[in-house]
Amino acid sequence: MSSEDPAEKMTQSTPQPVASITPHRLHAAAKPPASAQSSEAELVEQIGQLKAQLRQNQAMASLGELTSTATHEFNNVLMTIINYARLGIRNRDDASRDKALSKILEASERAARITSTILAQARNRSDSMEPTDLVALVKDTMVLLEREMNKYRVSVCTEFAEDTVKAMAAGNQIQRVLLNLLINARQAIGEAGQMFVIVRNSDDPAFVEVVVRDSGCGIPAETLPQIFEPFFSTKSGPDDSGKGGTGLGLSACKEIVDAHKGKIRVESSVGVGTAFTIRLPKAPC
Ligand SMILES: Nc1ncnc2c1ncn2[C@@H]1O[C@H](COP(=O)(O)OP(=O)(O)OP(=O)(O)O)[C@@H](O)[C@H]1O
Ligand SMILES: [Mg+2]
Repeated sequence: MSSEDPAEKMTQSTPQPVASITPHRLHAAAKPPASAQSSEAELVEQIGQLKAQLRQNQAMASLGELTSTATHEFNNVLMTIINYARLGIRNRDDASRDKALSKILEASERAARITSTILAQARNRSDSMEPTDLVALVKDTMVLLEREMNKYRVSVCTEFAEDTVKAMAAGNQIQRVLLNLLINARQAIGEAGQMFVIVRNSDDPAFVEVVVRDSGCGIPAETLPQIFEPFFSTKSGPDDSGKGGTGLGLSACKEIVDAHKGKIRVESSVGVGTAFTIRLPKAPC
C-alpha cells in the first residue's frame, strides 16, 4: 500500500469534461424564453432545498446510529458496574471491596464519557468551524466502538503524534466521517484483524491528517473510482450489528471533507487491506 500503488486514488476537485454541444443548441441554451428561465430557477432552488434536506436526514440518521451504538455500549458498562457491586457486597474484605469500587469508578467514568459524546453531538447542530483536537475526537469515537471491535475481534492500535496541531473543523461532522471509516474498516475485516488509527501532521505543512488503516479484504482497482459515489455499495444490507449497506457513507465523508477544504484519499490492495487518509486544514496557532 505505498503511495505508488496503482490502486491509489486521490479525490480532489478536478474539472469535469463538459459534453460538447452544437452551435444551435448553444444559442438556444444562451437565450431561454422567460418562462423557461423561471422554471429553471425554480428547479435549481428545489434541488438546493432537497440537498439541504438530504444533509439534514443524513445527520439525523448518523445521530440515530450513534445513539444506538452508545446505548449498547452504555448497557455493557452498566453490566460491569452491577457485577462489581455484587462482588463488593458478597466479599466483605478490604481488598475485594477496593477492587470492586475501583472497577465501578472506572466503568462509571466510561459511562460518563459515552453520554457526554452523545449529548455533545445532539446539542451541537452548528456547522461552525473551530480549532478541533482530532486526537480527543478519535478517542471519543473509539469509546463508542470498543464493544463492537471486541465483538468482531478487531484489535485497534492508535498512534498519536505528540506535536499534532488542532484542525479547523466542525467536530460533529468529522466524528461522522470517523465513524463511517471505522465501521467500513471493521466490516472489511469481518472476523479478527487489525486496525490502525493515526493522527499526525501531514507532509503538507498546512494540514493535519487522520489515517484509518485496516487489514481487511481490500478494494479492487476497478471498484475504487466508484466508492465515493452515492448509493454505491457492495454490501447486501445491514450486517448483524445493523450497520452498512446504503452506500451513502463515503459520499457523505467526501462531501464533509470537501466542505472543510480538505482531502480524502484511499490506498488499497486486495487481500492486504485499505487505508483512508483525511487531511484537514490546520487551525491557526
Ligand atoms: N475499508 C474498506 N475496505 C474495503 N472496502 C471498503 C472499505 N470502505 C469502503 N469500502 C467499499 O466501498 C463501498 C462504499 O462504502 P460506503 O461507506 O459509502 O457504503 P456502505 O458501507 O456500503 O454503506 P453505508 O452507507 O451504510 O455506509 C462499500 O460497500 C465497500 O465495498
Ligand atoms: Mg459505510
